Amino acid sequence: MPEQVPLDFLGDLRRTHTCGQLRLADTGQRVILMGWVHRRRDLGGVIFIHLRDREGVSQLVFHADDAFAEAHDKADLLRSEYVIAVEGLVKVRTPETINPNLPTGEVEVVAEKVWILNESRTPPFPMEDNVDVNEDARLKYRYMDLRRPRMQKNIILRAKISLAIREVLDAQGFLEIETPFLTKSTPEGARDFLVPSRMYPGDFYALPQSPQIFKQLLMISGFDKYFQIVRCFRDEDLRADRQYEFTQIDREMSFPQQETIFSVIEPLLERVCAVAGFTVTAPFPRMTYKQAMRSYGTDKPDLRIPPFHCVEDLFPEDPNFATPGLPLVAIVIPNTGAPTRKERDDLKAFGQERGLRVFDDAKRLERDAPEVMAQVRARTGAGENDLLFLCGWLGEPKGHRPEETVLLAAGQLRLFAAQKFNDRNNLLNPTDFRFAWVVDFPMFEWNDEAERWVAAHHPFTSVHDEDIDKLTTDPARCRAKSYDIVLNGTELGSGSIRIHRRDIQSAVFQSLGLSTEEAEEKFGFLLEALEYGAPPHGGIALGLDRIVMILAGEKSLRDVIPFPKTAKGTDLMCDAPSSVPDKNLRELNIQVRRKQ
Ligand code: AMO
Repeated sequence: MPEQVPLDFLGDLRRTHTCGQLRLADTGQRVILMGWVHRRRDLGGVIFIHLRDREGVSQLVFHADDAFAEAHDKADLLRSEYVIAVEGLVKVRTPETINPNLPTGEVEVVAEKVWILNESRTPPFPMEDNVDVNEDARLKYRYMDLRRPRMQKNIILRAKISLAIREVLDAQGFLEIETPFLTKSTPEGARDFLVPSRMYPGDFYALPQSPQIFKQLLMISGFDKYFQIVRCFRDEDLRADRQYEFTQIDREMSFPQQETIFSVIEPLLERVCAVAGFTVTAPFPRMTYKQAMRSYGTDKPDLRIPPFHCVEDLFPEDPNFATPGLPLVAIVIPNTGAPTRKERDDLKAFGQERGLRVFDDAKRLERDAPEVMAQVRARTGAGENDLLFLCGWLGEPKGHRPEETVLLAAGQLRLFAAQKFNDRNNLLNPTDFRFAWVVDFPMFEWNDEAERWVAAHHPFTSVHDEDIDKLTTDPARCRAKSYDIVLNGTELGSGSIRIHRRDIQSAVFQSLGLSTEEAEEKFGFLLEALEYGAPPHGGIALGLDRIVMILAGEKSLRDVIPFPKTAKGTDLMCDAPSSVPDKNLRELNIQVRRKQ
């Protein structure tokens, strides 16, 4: 850093334009720009500065040999990321100096006066996209990372999407209503973040995993159409698409059919995609959970890849081929050309690790069983240039729904194969957006650890009218009135028609193994509220971070959240979590057992 840079005050200076604004039509105008020194080139008699703000970059020219020598001398002191204001005249660039890569590239500002508003230490990394920066450094200096064009673009896209959501929902008659952060546990399947109470030693608030119960209470209060763009908190293992705190677009409405919910979400998603510059057209395909499992081996189908087909009915039962009674799955990946030996071995190994036997040599199967394979080709539509292979289960059936175990493994293999051949067919084109609704999820899932059924969605979800009688007698076969919206294999949102009657809510708590006392202790206030004229109601919550991530073409939520946690759940910039002084702990009546 040059010593003793004389700093100027902002005084009553006002900027006239942003750095991305100037065009040919502004030629001859006197302007004042303010921003950061992005790049500086010193050609002796002339200094060129690229000045940057969030709107773009403008070129400033400082000449040594005219009446503005003082400005030139000051420009000599400027370094990367100094903050300056500059006054000058907009001038057309000569044809050979036009910069076609800058929207402002046909003009430049001939600087007459410059104010150095602040200096900067040497940045920890360049403010450019095309340099590979270690993520820890990016998160430690997040305020610098956020200056980089890619992050500016992502955060601006996020703000525009939030605004569009508010506009669409307002036009549809939804009210944005806030719900508390300091509350009681709201079960969504994760651990709670707890906040100790100072006034009631030993008692804790829980941060909401979602506003689920409050939005239901708002329906009971008669608000009818509610939404909130709201932070939720879940203490669960972090992944690229999971953060401890994340944002939901949360909605609820009274008297809806399932289709009513879809018909308000679809225009919202059309608009959100349009904001990001993409066209998608509703209605989006709908499929039941069962269909999704039978065709894609997952409840989050990526529709860019064709469905697979169960073909066990075409083959004679043979325990060496696949376990009788379980699916034999034909997977097709289009336009791959012939796979190499190594590619086929990789598919086999991946399948085997998941309990599958993979028949990777379609040609050989065709030689051995030409008629059957002709039927397989007819069913799957596999062409000559497509990869076709079969997989079945070898060994004992596994799990409480064994068919699903096989389909899930085949679904993973289908995804693995699509990724493997993506450089040949670009099947997983990230700007090909394929939404899908998955409906009729099972009401319960078996939890091996707890050795009992748990709610597949959350315990406030309605069961199908026809399955109500099976709630306690046959939970495995109960279907829920719940639905997910999925985009390219990622779950964007989940929702359900809720239980609005106390007797049914109590029965569901009972099938989840909650005693009457436990149900009363945890959810007594909700059960009581259901007795005061609760209307039929339902809703959905979409993950805002996930939507922005996919539309921005990013692979991690960390790239679309301004201040995210690392993959290990820490904040490298603020150094959180961190210990607190003993005095604070004493106030909270908390004694900490420190790790040795
Ligand atoms: P659910 O738990 O499925 O449903 O959450 C809804 C959506 O929120 C997003 N999401 C997350 N995003 C980032 N990090 C996380 N840790 C995380 N967890 C969830 C996902 C998910 O689809 N109350 C119900 C909704 C309802 O029934 O209306 C709920 O929270 O995109």
